[in-house]
Amino acid sequence: MTYARITGTGGCLPEKILTNHDLEKMVETTDEWIQERTGIKKRHVAGPEETTCDLAERAARRAMEMAGRGSADIDLIIVATTTPDRVFPSTACLLQKRLEIHGCAAFDVQAVCTGFVYALGVADRFIRTGGAKCALVVGAETLSRIVDWTDRTTCVLFGDGAGAVVLEASEEQGILSTHLHADGRFDNLLHVPKGVSTAYSEVLAGEAYIEMKGNEVFKVAVNTLGRIVDETLEYNDIDQAEIDWLIPHQANIRIIQATARKLKMPMDRVVVTVGEHGNTSAASIPLALDVAVRDGRVRPGDLLMMEAFGGGFTWGSALLRF
Ligand code: ACO
Repeated sequence: MTYARITGTGGCLPEKILTNHDLEKMVETTDEWIQERTGIKKRHVAGPEETTCDLAERAARRAMEMAGRGSADIDLIIVATTTPDRVFPSTACLLQKRLEIHGCAAFDVQAVCTGFVYALGVADRFIRTGGAKCALVVGAETLSRIVDWTDRTTCVLFGDGAGAVVLEASEEQGILSTHLHADGRFDNLLHVPKGVSTAYSEVLAGEAYIEMKGNEVFKVAVNTLGRIVDETLEYNDIDQAEIDWLIPHQANIRIIQATARKLKMPMDRVVVTVGEHGNTSAASIPLALDVAVRDGRVRPGDLLMMEAFGGGFTWGSALLRF
């Protein structure tokens, strides 16, 4: 049986940092409020000329270096992003050009905060069915471009970044299952209400911002993540005690803690990076994975559960042997 195995990870955060204390000077908020409600201490923000593809490229190169793979080895590129460089071509095509890879399929996936899990699920299916042997799967965002920096209810939450993995066909166990869901009836609870076909001039003018009913999102997120964790365990017929590491989407420490409680996982087996970079949407899971791989917490053979929830609503999970 062929599995898709992660053989390399990489991450990239922009240099510029915005701390909670910086935000205190921009909107009516406090470091204490932000840390207590979200666990976030700071976020990274792309420079004026820095794009989603710039961050994606740096993360991808690091993942390829760890995997020992060069451009000639990559035969599929999927970029999960909600903040692409251009309307088209896709950021995946722009990344392909940067990496001097030519000819393989390259496309973007848009599932907001669940984007990386969606991209992983798609790449897994390509690899298991023989459609690819060595895929680059990237989550990359410059959410700072669609944040209203005068709205304290959203601007404290989000940040920019990118994370990437190399996923290779292997006889050894890798991804065991992915579970992808969406329910568009919740579109208005978390969205950017303007887009290219409805308000192009406002998009061009930089007036298309994230709007969110935070409280309601919070409740649905906690319930839904609990359910997807159960679905994943049941599908694989495993007990939660067998999971070595939970690598959740990094939106809010309270959502992460609630999911960990549901899994009966102590927080020292949960990878938490939200404090360091806030919610980076599609980038957050691969960024967290990269940190835990590079600091030696996640080791070959470990069983990992990834889970995410985001705009759409979309939600999903992946169970994998690292
Ligand atoms: N600083 C100070 N006060 C604030 C701030 C702020 N930055 N933002 C809101 N407040 C105020 C509100 O105005 C409100 O004041 P009021 O009582 O006078 O009306 C009060 O704080 C409480 O507001 P709530 O919205 O009830 O606060 P809550 O505890 O729900 O925390 C938060 C808000 C952090 C947004 C929370 O609801 C949340 O995390 N929701 C999940 C949203 C999320 O993570 N979305 C990301 C995308 S989806 C995903 O990735 C899971």
